[in-house]
Amino acid sequence: MSIVYLNGRFLPEDQALVSVLDRGFVFGDGVYEVIPVYWGQPFRIAQHLERLNSSLSAIRMQDPLTAGQWSELLANLLRFNPAPGDQSVYLQITRGPAKRDHAIPQHTKLTLFAMCNPITPPDSTLLTQGVSVVTLEDIRWQYCHIKAITLLPNVLLRANASDHGALDAILLRDGQVTEGTASNVFVWTGGVLCTPPKSRYLLPGITRDLVLEIAQQHGVNATELNLTEVDLQAADEIWLTSSTKEILPVTQLNGRPVGAGVPGEHWRAMLAWYQEYKRNLRAGVAS
Ligand code: PDD
Repeated sequence: MSIVYLNGRFLPEDQALVSVLDRGFVFGDGVYEVIPVYWGQPFRIAQHLERLNSSLSAIRMQDPLTAGQWSELLANLLRFNPAPGDQSVYLQITRGPAKRDHAIPQHTKLTLFAMCNPITPPDSTLLTQGVSVVTLEDIRWQYCHIKAITLLPNVLLRANASDHGALDAILLRDGQVTEGTASNVFVWTGGVLCTPPKSRYLLPGITRDLVLEIAQQHGVNATELNLTEVDLQAADEIWLTSSTKEILPVTQLNGRPVGAGVPGEHWRAMLAWYQEYKRNLRAGVAS
């Protein structure tokens, strides 16, 4: 049984209980983070905590912990849940229990929950054959830069993709690519790596930023650019990035092959550099 953290205590998962009046349960009033843990070390912790901080302030909440307290919480959680492979830590903060009222209550005690889960490496067929996606209209709200726990549109979009026989969807808002249902999107086209610029229509992915950083380090011509469905159709390669899936090659778009229809050489190079970055971090070379 895994041990989770809830409001100051470490408990077996089945004993960690939250009030039915919790605003997270009643209104979806909360935010979350997912932080990968490699070789026992949280990855890009400063960037994840910074994003958590901005998600919290966007929903008019304050970060309850300092960076040092977060690090200690994570270290203890990982100590209680030893695992042989990579893990991810899920953190959730909600506005806590209160009488049901849309108005933001003044004096609630927030709910802080954290758990860890194994990161299962992508199925080898995903890496050899790539993933298939469909394009769907982005039906989400206008504050997608907030990592809000209200994920019903993402859940329904993923189900819709699955109905089309695809693993995921790339979302389009007013004809512009935003992101995947739980990932950011990159396109390799004509020797340039492109990803949509940050805006309130997509999550500022930590993996996205790292891929751009690595591209710069290795002299790859990378740019932030608004992309359309036509750009997707013309792409040599398409990738999806996230903390738990790292970098996945998309080889089918709406039933048609992307480029040659197999994972591309640029994806392969980027994935190798990404793994190298992780190893260097372990060895204390990168930050
Ligand atoms: N999701 N966009 C959306 C909508 C996401 O939900 C995620 C990640 C990303 C990628 O962000 P990052 O690189 O920081 O993981 C982009 C996480 C993994 C989740 O909800 O489980």
